[in-house]
Amino acid sequence: MTPPRNDRTLLPLAGGHRDGGRSAATCLWKCNDACSKPVPNTSDNEYFGDVVAASRRSVLKAGGAAAAVAGVTTAAGTALADKAAAAPRPGKKAPFGFTPIEPVTAGTDEMVVPEGFRWTPIISWGDPVLAGAPAFDFDHHTAEAQAGQMGYNCDYVGVLRHRNENSAVLVVNNEYTNNNLMFHDYTDARSMTDDQVQITLNAHGLTVVEMTRKNPDAKWTYTRAAPLNRRITAETPFELVGPAAGDRLLRTSADPTGTRVLGTFGNCAGGTTPWGTVLSGEENFNDYFTQPDGPGDDMAGEAASRYGLAGGSTAQHDWDRLDDRFDLTEEPHEANRHGWIIEVDPFDPESTPRKLTALGRFKHEGANVVVADDGRVVAYMGDDERFDYMYKFVSTGTYREGDTEHNLTLLEEGDLFVAKFAGDGTGDDEHDGTGEWLPLVEDGRSAVPGMSLAEVLVYTRLAADTVGPTKMDRPEDVEVNLVNGRVYAALTNNADRTPGQIDEVNPRANNKHGQVLEVTPTSGDHTARSFSWTLVLICGDPTDPETYFMGYDPSEVSPISCPDNVAFDGDGNLWVATDGNSLGHCDGMYLMPLRGEEKGHLQQFLSVPAYAECCGPLIEWTERVVFAAVQHPGEADDATTDNVQSTFPYQGNTQPRPGVVMVWPARPGG
Ligand code: FEO
Ligand code: CA
Ligand code: CA
Repeated sequence: MTPPRNDRTLLPLAGGHRDGGRSAATCLWKCNDACSKPVPNTSDNEYFGDVVAASRRSVLKAGGAAAAVAGVTTAAGTALADKAAAAPRPGKKAPFGFTPIEPVTAGTDEMVVPEGFRWTPIISWGDPVLAGAPAFDFDHHTAEAQAGQMGYNCDYVGVLRHRNENSAVLVVNNEYTNNNLMFHDYTDARSMTDDQVQITLNAHGLTVVEMTRKNPDAKWTYTRAAPLNRRITAETPFELVGPAAGDRLLRTSADPTGTRVLGTFGNCAGGTTPWGTVLSGEENFNDYFTQPDGPGDDMAGEAASRYGLAGGSTAQHDWDRLDDRFDLTEEPHEANRHGWIIEVDPFDPESTPRKLTALGRFKHEGANVVVADDGRVVAYMGDDERFDYMYKFVSTGTYREGDTEHNLTLLEEGDLFVAKFAGDGTGDDEHDGTGEWLPLVEDGRSAVPGMSLAEVLVYTRLAADTVGPTKMDRPEDVEVNLVNGRVYAALTNNADRTPGQIDEVNPRANNKHGQVLEVTPTSGDHTARSFSWTLVLICGDPTDPETYFMGYDPSEVSPISCPDNVAFDGDGNLWVATDGNSLGHCDGMYLMPLRGEEKGHLQQFLSVPAYAECCGPLIEWTERVVFAAVQHPGEADDATTDNVQSTFPYQGNTQPRPGVVMVWPARPGG
């Protein structure tokens, strides 16, 4: 039975990539080598390089010095695997009550947690979810089995309180598949049987399962065939809602209404709303379509280039073998029906999940919602591509506590903005400044001359290009810290940024390690058009003078590279998960206090297995429980089912199985 909607409360603080150190296999499977391709943003939006020359740190990166600094970073980074062990001060406990772990050398197939903590898998690829689903059998896997089992690579992790303190619902994104690690004898898409192709369709999307525990000290376990358990796949019916729903750009021969879409895929990060639903970002959706050889010369053609849909596909998934909708030469509008934020109600397993056109269409990393002082809700979003933008949506309607039916309409109507940053140019030690949110949709109407409202929403990248936003270093997770009301964005990396393209918010050329940005809305009002900003973390080898840890002694911090997901605990500390470590270490999870004496003291909490990325940090503060997703373990360039690089989660399996884990203090009764 579906629980009363006003009973839903979040588990405390439920919150929410490539070059660099990533394996080539990761780049192929996750985003079809997006970074090896021309930058899709060819707009002439300016970098504010004119003001950065005054900044001390930026001066270091100007001209030839930038290349030299980049070289030093690489060399020092390699050496750091040995040296960094001494970095955290011995015996000093982080706010969460742990002694930081040492970085683990890349390729080590081990899950490492701090002393006094332990970890356990909660659910892994292939575990049965729905009633009647069989136990996972790697050697005899079928599409039918997969449709009722946990999907493959998991990214976003949401946990929502259910009936009582020992009952919860776990929602996980299943972003993409590693076909070479899933099937024996895989060589390329043509080597796959039709059933194997269908397995991959069914292994994408999201997985919802109920979890219970015996008591607050015990571990969480998921329940097979529980009432709320659900699989959403690349075949699940969705409803398109919002201003663009039904527009001609969204109509296909199978759906002349432009309102009904099958499936979601490429789902990366996400967020949990105040009304108990889950938002998920459709990110690298373009890789799943067979594409025309080149774009046309109209707006649709321009958009095809801008979204990686014009001749860039190697069609490694081969989904159009089973369904013409994945062939854009047959169904040119089908790709317009992907690249949205989706909203899923995990408490209503019969509900039709929705695609929210009001939030615009791009390579959505995720979306996170906060209720502004006047009751309107604001969603912050990143478009994860080199030189793309940060966005926010402001609802027209206002949040009503306990009225889920009403709150479910809030993301269907509102205004859309894109961010422009300016450096303060003061030459001080900080990268900071001000910025403004430039309207794309204002008062429910297109704010972009020459584009209709539907065109702004379907071709959001084109609309944004016309208003002059700042080209960012791959904006990934953007989340609000509910303790201090500020917004934090992971800017993962951007090795394509040249010395002439640096600015104060993207201050490094050949940026291999990324940075974390803090945005403070003017007067604390999330609906405000202006903000101030500062970089709180410039990642890399702490011995590299280009790095920055809020002024904390760099000899005492953990090295970090490629921030991807951010989260916050009950004290407002920043937690960061990484994807693509360029320092020769496994990816991991880190804590960094944002205030007090320990401000900037970045400390590593977790290291994930060989070739995996760490995703979905979710911190249960009072009980010191951390949930994390281990995505693409064993995804080495030469890995196959006969050349296994990881056997995570180490439960007698001989092949890697991506999944969700919990980490918690070893304590009596646990
Ligand atoms: Fe799927 Fe942008 O990371
Ligand atoms: Ca990622
Ligand atoms: Ca990501």
